[in-house]
Amino acid sequence: MSKRDPNRVLIFDTTLRDGEQSPGCSMTPEEKLRVARALAELGVDVIEAGFPAASRGDWESVNQIAREVRGPVICGLARCNADDIHKAWTAVKDAARPRIHVFLATSAIHREHKLNMAKEEIIRTAVEGVKLARSLCEDIEFSPEDASRTELDFLTEVVQAAVDAGACTVNVPDTVGYTTPQEFHETFSHLKQHVRGADEVTFSVHCHNDLGMAVANSLSAVLAGARQIECTINGIGERAGNCSLEEVVMAIKTREQVFGVHTGIHSQKLYPTCRLVSSITGMPIPRNKAVIGENAFAHESGIHQHGMLKHASTYEIMRPVDVGLSRTNLVLGKHSGRHAFRERVRELGFELDDAELNRVFERFKALADRKKELFDGDIEALVLKLDTESGGPWFLEGLKTDAALGEDAVAEVTLRHADGRQVMQRAAGDGPVDAAFKAVEEAAGVTVTLRKFEVRSVSKGEDAQGEALVTVEYGGRTHRGSSVTTNIVESGVRAFLEVINRIELGRRTGRIAVEARGEARAAQAAV
Ligand code: KIV
Ligand code: ZN
Repeated sequence: MSKRDPNRVLIFDTTLRDGEQSPGCSMTPEEKLRVARALAELGVDVIEAGFPAASRGDWESVNQIAREVRGPVICGLARCNADDIHKAWTAVKDAARPRIHVFLATSAIHREHKLNMAKEEIIRTAVEGVKLARSLCEDIEFSPEDASRTELDFLTEVVQAAVDAGACTVNVPDTVGYTTPQEFHETFSHLKQHVRGADEVTFSVHCHNDLGMAVANSLSAVLAGARQIECTINGIGERAGNCSLEEVVMAIKTREQVFGVHTGIHSQKLYPTCRLVSSITGMPIPRNKAVIGENAFAHESGIHQHGMLKHASTYEIMRPVDVGLSRTNLVLGKHSGRHAFRERVRELGFELDDAELNRVFERFKALADRKKELFDGDIEALVLKLDTESGGPWFLEGLKTDAALGEDAVAEVTLRHADGRQVMQRAAGDGPVDAAFKAVEEAAGVTVTLRKFEVRSVSKGEDAQGEALVTVEYGGRTHRGSSVTTNIVESGVRAFLEVINRIELGRRTGRIAVEARGEARAAQAAV
């Protein structure tokens, strides 16, 4: 076996598992596959594709990624029990490089209040889990959940037992985002020093962002010898999220002298990957988000602009091109040919095959008939919405609205279902968007609680396209959808329909509980 480069930090992406667990970030199997492919292009070392025991749908999705995505290790999460471990194994075993990730909580709080297990039982269960997993798969990762709140001596004991049982990677999670950089440095140094055989295993760090320190804590662990970072695109994840992949990778790259390590990430693919995940989850990237936010390379103050004109390094520590923001904002229009379009798509960081390019190009031509000039934002939106809007099972066939000042608006919506049904519904509401949403609910037979409806422009000009973002609650969970067109009522309806489609697919696979009609209305009335 070739010896690993000691200064190479592995990037373990858990967008499809920990990220997908966060409210409103659930993805369909097709969307997960698209994200997994983008992660492979980005150069991540490990993709945690999901938690196969969570549902049949999760198992299938992990299995599909294991069969179809090549390059990174494909990993499935499992609790320390035989059923979970077998499900994780059957899901990932077709991958070229499969991994099972077993976890068990170790802190006193979890032992007493969640597991009701004594320390000896924790060790026994962890060892049995790791041994069983190792009997199936060569590459085993073990995580003592809530490690940062576990007594250090006991943590060391559990980690030692897991290593002796055959774990190749030991991941140390700050499950509740509680630790600090110095404290986590001490934890990793202690483990590296006291665990026998520590040099033969990879220490990994997994931080949540409850106190905004996930990236700093992960980097501190790296300084203490961790050589795998678990992170998510855009930092999505439970509660305040996980360590953000784009931030931690760019910190390592930009301050290489400080950290003395490197990753295998193709940083120019960061921005398109982040936009893809944002568009699929409907979770917008904040303007001031480090590395990839709209303002990350914008300079407003005169002094800064002056400095930038003299030399970019006066106020920029990274080059926009290094994160995939090489925007020239070159304008395309209806006379632009396929070649120029393909080049622009490529420059924006997207890899499309010929069939995909043809589909986007058709949409580009249709849009260019309605909109004089097309900017980078427009092209990006066309590529990003390539699959999500066409997925069904419901498709928008017709939309008419009628609104006058001081009167209720009326909408007529026609939907077609993949099974061939066509349904037309009329509804009245407080404005055209409200009326159209009600008509869609009636037509699809699903009633949801609308939490948020936002519209923003994706490019410039009076005829700019509007991106609508819709957030609803259904079955005790948050769901998001988004859509981009030049007509904001249509964008809203398409985004709303995307949510309805997610719910219908989730109900079919058992991931989303069926809510009795009227329950959501009652909740809505109570708001
Ligand atoms: O946060 C956590 O502890 C986890 C484990 C399953 C690794 O996500
Ligand atoms: Zn986590």
